[in-house]
Amino acid sequence: MTQDVWQAVALSRAVRQTPKRVLLDGVPVVLFRGRDGAIAALHDRCPHRFASLSEGRCLDGEIQCPYHGWRFASDGRCTAIPGHVGPLPTLRAQALTVTEAEGAIFLSTGTPQAAPYVHCLTGQDVITRRVTSATRSTLIDTAENILDATHTHFTHRGLLRGLGTKRYAVDVAITGGPGWVEATYTGEDRQQGLISKLLEGARVRTVGRYRHPGIAELEYWGPNGIVLATTFHLRQADAETVEGVGWLMGPKQAGLGYLKALAFKPMFRLALDQDRRVLSRAFDNARLLPTARPVIGPLDILREDIARIAAGEMPKAAQTPRRVQIAL
Ligand code: FES
Ligand SMILES: [Fe+2]
Repeated sequence: MTQDVWQAVALSRAVRQTPKRVLLDGVPVVLFRGRDGAIAALHDRCPHRFASLSEGRCLDGEIQCPYHGWRFASDGRCTAIPGHVGPLPTLRAQALTVTEAEGAIFLSTGTPQAAPYVHCLTGQDVITRRVTSATRSTLIDTAENILDATHTHFTHRGLLRGLGTKRYAVDVAITGGPGWVEATYTGEDRQQGLISKLLEGARVRTVGRYRHPGIAELEYWGPNGIVLATTFHLRQADAETVEGVGWLMGPKQAGLGYLKALAFKPMFRLALDQDRRVLSRAFDNARLLPTARPVIGPLDILREDIARIAAGEMPKAAQTPRRVQIAL
């Protein structure tokens, strides 16, 4: 597991009066609100007999184990052993580093120095909508899927792309640095898909970016700046599930942006479902033949660098930026 990085694990609104269990690389964690309302995170395993604390209750900002009722404060300290007379022994449940930013909860197994990176329009006056997702897949496959322009003609025909088969000559510039790689597409025509027709004007360029430790973002640029963007924080919840916490963003445009944001979320959900169907079946197929390796095709421009970054290496694009022409 990657230390000293933040991983988005849930939306803030998902943790109120009741505890919530999340998985971080297979490790169960319980989230609950402490006495001051601040988010708390403990390993979801009572130190007594390993019962799941998330199946217990929140009482006065503490969590009570469902098995024998031991209670734990936000920092993991055991504060009560029902039936015990006399001073409490010093016991604790293991705590994780946790924080909240822009409506989401971020966990770390280390102690990151900086606040979490949230999305590509942080600090700007934009409308945001948050979504969560879960897919049977791997982190690399899911991140690549979000950033892969070529599948949209098929998987999202009519939604992200038009129904026709016409393609345009598009220039792709691939650049990178420590922990990130991006592809900038220029020369795309005005998009004919339903989402684009409703939400976008002329498109000047599209940027797809991967950032360590599992962040995939897309920016759609018009002549006056970003008209639409999504940042998705992905993490391997367990060996077969990738979960995501995502932000959808657009400029406010004097109220019009709100209407667009309302329309965007359900359509975005539809696109996510289309991807989920393909990815989960591909995941099953990969498991059925574990020795087979997927082919890296000539248009899979970010795949290898995403894998390098995930492995803690420098992406090739950092040393050797490149340009390719494709028909999109
Ligand atoms: S297992 Fe939690 S109190 Fe016994
Ligand atoms: Fe997709």
